[in-house]
Amino acid sequence: MSRRGALRAGGVMAATAAGFAAMSGTAAAEVPALAANPGRGNGRQGGRSVPGTDFEPVAPNSRDAVTVPEGYEQQVVIRWGDPVVPGAPAFDVNGQTAAAQAKQFGYNNDFVGLIPQDGSGRRNFLVVNHEYTTETEMFPEGSYDEANPTEEQVRIAWAAHGLSVVQADRTRDGGLEVKPSRYNRRITLDTEFEVRGPVAGSDLLKTSADPTGTIVHGTQNNCAGGVTPWGTVLSGEENFHQYFAHGERVTDPVQAERLDRYGLAGGETTRKWERFDKRWDISQEPNEVHRFGWVVEIDPNDPNAKPIKHTALGRFKHEAANVKIARDGRVVVYSGDDERFDYIYKFVSNGRYKPGRSAHARRHNMALLDEGTLYVAKFTGNSPAEEIDGSGTLPSDGEFDGTGEWIALASGDKSFVDGFTAEEVYVFTRLAADKVGATKMDRPEDIEPNPVTGRIYAALTNNSDRGAAGKAGADEPNPRNGNKNGHVLEWDEDGTETKFRWRLLLVCGDPDAADTYFGGFDKSQVSPISCPDNVAFDGYGNLWISTDGNALGSNDGLFSVPVTGPNRGQVKQFLTVPVGAETCGPVVRDDLVLVAVQHPGEGGEPGSSWPDGGHARPAIVAVRKSDGGRIGA
Ligand code: FEO
Ligand code: CA
Ligand code: CA
Repeated sequence: MSRRGALRAGGVMAATAAGFAAMSGTAAAEVPALAANPGRGNGRQGGRSVPGTDFEPVAPNSRDAVTVPEGYEQQVVIRWGDPVVPGAPAFDVNGQTAAAQAKQFGYNNDFVGLIPQDGSGRRNFLVVNHEYTTETEMFPEGSYDEANPTEEQVRIAWAAHGLSVVQADRTRDGGLEVKPSRYNRRITLDTEFEVRGPVAGSDLLKTSADPTGTIVHGTQNNCAGGVTPWGTVLSGEENFHQYFAHGERVTDPVQAERLDRYGLAGGETTRKWERFDKRWDISQEPNEVHRFGWVVEIDPNDPNAKPIKHTALGRFKHEAANVKIARDGRVVVYSGDDERFDYIYKFVSNGRYKPGRSAHARRHNMALLDEGTLYVAKFTGNSPAEEIDGSGTLPSDGEFDGTGEWIALASGDKSFVDGFTAEEVYVFTRLAADKVGATKMDRPEDIEPNPVTGRIYAALTNNSDRGAAGKAGADEPNPRNGNKNGHVLEWDEDGTETKFRWRLLLVCGDPDAADTYFGGFDKSQVSPISCPDNVAFDGYGNLWISTDGNALGSNDGLFSVPVTGPNRGQVKQFLTVPVGAETCGPVVRDDLVLVAVQHPGEGGEPGSSWPDGGHARPAIVAVRKSDGGRIGA
């Protein structure tokens, strides 16, 4: 059987059963094995590392701590409950109130944007997403009844969502310090948002509280995001569906199909918000659910600016949104829909980018996201995926030999999808993309252009259902059935074309397993990596990857990997986060790394007492070199 035949017959998994067997030990046993094996996971090849990645890698571990390389120091910048706006009380885990939470740093920090306010980068806006609440972790043991939350507990949760904007200045010793400032701001589920773009004012967005269909209270499940070249933040509303109850009471088959495609299964919600505000009850407010699942934009430069929901970018479980300026000046926004077998999208503006961060330029550029074309990605074969054979190399030398096509879904009020109006394409984007045969991916997470090379990188975090009965099997861009460890794709395009070329950068997992691929780099010399989620780039163009849900049994972390030259694929672990936590929001500056430590201790025993030794608190951590030097140099 040819290699291609093997792929079609069940993908890499079938061809490399031995690799999966090697990974089948218990998680607990794997951690010391990974850490103790000399010459393994050290990320070095002959001692040579490219600039930006020259540090002693952190070994996989299960500590309840943030662990950084030797010669580096860490600091908690801000944690859940810390004061954000004037008059905010000090955090009191036993005396939480909605009024206090609305002035304090929210829960479960995810995306982190660090936006310089001046040329030196000493003064910055720190903009952070607060993705979701886990009430059983937030409230002291015994004080929260999952079946019967109090109204105040529900209101605390509403205030713990959204975003925080704080002034964050560099300290003399190279750290980062939150300052009182007129810019400091909390955005919660009560903050007014303006709906913009082709669906603003649509009947599909009108509710009894907002008959105009243009004003939405709040944002939720803001997962990752991106800083725009004009100095604002785009933030993705991801798992918005989980807060809406009683989809099962909908009898109209068209509406029921739409709810089903967005995972709105019905019944009560876990958090029971629908008992305190009917907007969370689909049977009472059928359109409120259409007002979430968008990319939102926050302008930290103007503390009074009303945040925006951008409908031209489509409605799905947006992981993030990142901008590339094409050569002709049009603005391209990439966004993944984080669900098993869902899609990768891009938006291309009609208008051209105006450089600069003046109020005039910001207004102009923010308006560019109102008018353009929304596309979904179709990947085709001839990729190197079929060649992962355990040797760690590809016969094609990893050339861009996969091809892809962007399929237009809608532009302004024009739909390109049979049976869908343009409004329906924007509001029910998943269904429109189903119709045109887009490629079903393994949970598309962060997608971001490399500022040095212009190439685009997408993290596909995992998909244990790939190849399951009745589900799509492995294909070239998603090369493993039962994909537990995820992979990273890269593609080459200016941004405005409808054709592109792609290839695999990483097929993640234990480097000893035959079904992994590290860009062709010597697999005995890399750190194990699993479940890539967020990506970022350093000033050299090295890719940095944070992980969520490490399936190899150790804690999540942050990794660097060169993407060009002989070190391409040399994955090195820069830090690990505490037990139960996910690593989010990486920011990599010349002399500073920031990560968001999300949900420390989540998922049962052992819990976490990070960072202060008491009740666990999600927080932002800054890492710098002890000698004040450049990261990885
Ligand atoms: Fe909120 Fe896809 O992670
Ligand atoms: Ca994420
Ligand atoms: Ca990112």
